[in-house]
Amino acid sequence: MAESIEPIIISVNGTERRLAVERSRSLLSVLRIELGLTGTKYGCGAGQCGACTALLEGRPVRACVTPVSHADGRAVLTIEGLAEEETLHPVQEAFLEAQAFQCGYCTPGMTMEAVALIWQKPRPSELEIREAMSGHLCRCGTYARIIKAIHLAADKMQR
Ligand code: FES
Ligand code: FES
Repeated sequence: MAESIEPIIISVNGTERRLAVERSRSLLSVLRIELGLTGTKYGCGAGQCGACTALLEGRPVRACVTPVSHADGRAVLTIEGLAEEETLHPVQEAFLEAQAFQCGYCTPGMTMEAVALIWQKPRPSELEIREAMSGHLCRCGTYARIIKAIHLAADKMQR
């Protein structure tokens, strides 16, 4: 039997979106295909790489394995919602300054995880950073610079 389609209402980057989509669809597919927010990346599709990380009520989720129904009535923040007009978020600035990427495919997920970490722990230790980022894979191997960027971002967000 076909799944019934009831509207799902999500605040995405501060804008309320009404979506007529199957409730079991992944949040990632709805963000990318229905809303055109392709900054959130598809990597493994199995919750293992972190490329698809977005924030749901301020907490990081793997959007590829999160049914969109989990976001119903809640707030989602994606990489597109971080900058304010022409001003980058401090974590984005720090990633640029520390050159914490090469191809950049993992960067949106890393950035969203880092934002959530610094919100929760304004001065994370290196161990806390390593733990928070441990589920994120970077095929380009920029891990050391990512750690540097997160320290730098924490400094910027204290100012
Ligand atoms: S694409 Fe979601 S964790 Fe890899
Ligand atoms: S910068 Fe290429 S995967 Fe991380």
